[in-house]
Amino acid sequence: MTSPQSNTRQSNHPSNWADTNLRYGYVSRVLHWLMAAMIFWQFLGMTLRAILGRTPLVAFFVKWHPIVGSTLLVLILLRLAWFWLNRHHRPGVIPPVSAPRYGSGINWAKAGHVALYGLMLCIPLLGFIRLYGSGRGFAPFGIEIFAETGQEIAWTIALADALHGELAWFFLVLIVGHIAMVYIHEKYQNDGTLKRMAGRLKKTRK
Ligand code: HEM
Ligand code: HEM
Repeated sequence: MTSPQSNTRQSNHPSNWADTNLRYGYVSRVLHWLMAAMIFWQFLGMTLRAILGRTPLVAFFVKWHPIVGSTLLVLILLRLAWFWLNRHHRPGVIPPVSAPRYGSGINWAKAGHVALYGLMLCIPLLGFIRLYGSGRGFAPFGIEIFAETGQEIAWTIALADALHGELAWFFLVLIVGHIAMVYIHEKYQNDGTLKRMAGRLKKTRK
């Protein structure tokens, strides 16, 4: 049986840092796993807030939430730029076994990745514009990103209040689905999906 990867040609890209048709390179991997850890941190804090209410532990997470979230906003912009630079030599999405049977013509794996990217951009962006619109200023570690104005911008707060939390919980559902699909690929298709993001990289020229 031919492996799904045999349909894709190994790109001749010379560096381990960049992506190839068969696997993600160091930059994509660091961004993927670092951002995943930071996103889980955000959800851990907000879940504790929902369960425990106002406690010193929750206050700690709430204090860090905008700082970690804003860093995520910068990282997703870098990730999108890296995606664009590597667009001609990235791994293609391996279709799930069930795809030909359903024959919907929709590449669900690709759609899922696009949705994850979209939410990774929109959710912190909404949080950020809410913070801007609050007029309270933002100066993480004493570095002023924007100054305190004392004036609220009502529409930014209304928009973020309506969408930030809702989209974030929906994002969590998609993440659970994403992890479940990786498990299914590994357990039932054995097609090396996890290796593309986590396996050893062969030594190539610098
Ligand atoms: C990927 C990044 C982020 C994730 C996953 C995330 C997730 C969440 C979640 C799950 C909640 C709880 C919503 C609820 O109460 O039901 C929340 C609330 C909140 N987030 Fe974020 N967030 C992110 C980035 C940001 C950023 C960048 C900011 C500000 C700069 C921010 C500001 C807030 C604020 C102020 C709340 C409280 C809103 C309220 O009281 O309902 N978040 N976030
Ligand atoms: C916050 C959590 C996560 C998010 C937002 C996320 C997002 C993404 C995105 C957008 C991709 C597409 C490749 C890219 O451009 O980077 C991807 C690929 C991948 N992710 Fe995640 N991920 C998360 C957590 C995880 C976890 C916990 C695992 C481990 C089971 C995982 C395993 C993978 C694998 C194996 C791929 C490569 C899939 C392929 O080549 O088709 N991800 N992830």
